[in-house]
Amino acid sequence: MDKRKFIKQISSYFAAASFPGFLVSCAGEKTNNNIFKIGFMLPYSGTYARLGFNIENGFMLSLESFNFDPKIIKFEFIRLDDESNPSKAAENVNKLINKDKVDVIIGTVHSGVAMGMIKAIKNSNSALIIPNAGANAATRSMCANNVFRTSFSNWQPIYPLGKVIVDDGHKNVVFVTWKYAAGNEARDSFSEGLIKSGGKLIKVFQLPFPSVEFQSILTEIASIQPDAVACFFAGGGAVKFVKDYVSLGLKNKIPLYGNGFLTEGVLEALGNDAEGIKTTLHYSDDLPNDANLEFRDKYQKKFNQFPDVYSVQGYDAGLLLFNTLNNLQEKKNINLLISSMKNAKVLNSPRGPWMLSSSNNPVQNIYLREVKNGKNQLIGKAWENLEDPSSECRI
Ligand code: PHB
Repeated sequence: MDKRKFIKQISSYFAAASFPGFLVSCAGEKTNNNIFKIGFMLPYSGTYARLGFNIENGFMLSLESFNFDPKIIKFEFIRLDDESNPSKAAENVNKLINKDKVDVIIGTVHSGVAMGMIKAIKNSNSALIIPNAGANAATRSMCANNVFRTSFSNWQPIYPLGKVIVDDGHKNVVFVTWKYAAGNEARDSFSEGLIKSGGKLIKVFQLPFPSVEFQSILTEIASIQPDAVACFFAGGGAVKFVKDYVSLGLKNKIPLYGNGFLTEGVLEALGNDAEGIKTTLHYSDDLPNDANLEFRDKYQKKFNQFPDVYSVQGYDAGLLLFNTLNNLQEKKNINLLISSMKNAKVLNSPRGPWMLSSSNNPVQNIYLREVKNGKNQLIGKAWENLEDPSSECRI
């Protein structure tokens, strides 16, 4: 997309969204001292596009809980489609930092892109808040002072799933996922939890990201006849996987499990096909806390759709950033902002209160949910206050 078209598009987006007190940036525009620039580097196309938009919506909604004086601080936003393409990650970050002069980047969804982003931002004078990508390294070996995550490590939501499956009376399990960083980590973390609980991982199937050619894998699963199938898929790929699973007649024979991304933001598209799928995740639509009720109500009114976990992660990225900025006397001091976000507690999150660990990753509950009547319904806690085992991180 050429630059003028892009600026026009983002201008009309923000005009349509009508956030009071907002400016829309022209790339490279001279900055004033009170202008705080935020760059969204998210997937706005491809299989993860919906996730990117929901993160941005959640983030923008969070700003409405604050009352910043524009004489002291004004926010400017820039949007960049990362296309879930790791090979463009460094170039995109460098553009946002050096050309657009952003103070903070909100990004991204895809683990491979996130790792490229961290390398590029680590030694800069900007901060990164990751509102989804679970790459374990982001808050383990690659952790950095200026890198924060408001979502999860890939280990967190799926490690408790093995115990759930074994407790349901299944032993021999097959795992299916994409072959890229997040899929590999989900596979290993699932396997760890399953084996510790007495289950057995009898076969793993992986296909390249973002392929949805599931037929031959599902045919082989039908012939192996495991006790259960577990998987990691998200976005458009999750819809296609569940639909193929159902249409090959597997759903009534072999129960399907996953981390909760399998049924997030896709329930409408899946209809009846999702019924009965059990998943583990750090959020459930029906968490009965006041912050969640208020968030869901406001989100629905503003965007005319239900929020999902991606909206929550974006919202919490906003709460972390804006709450910290709100409390600072000096609003445009990035080093002070970074040190003040350390060990932050996000008390009014829709997922319930959580805090950042010493490696800047959330310590949070993991919930067991089941799709009933077209909704992810809360069954209970699969794990309380689960902290990623991030002993490699020294910051
Ligand atoms: C990831 O690449 O880390 C990722 C992508 C989509 C999800 C979860 C994790 O839903």
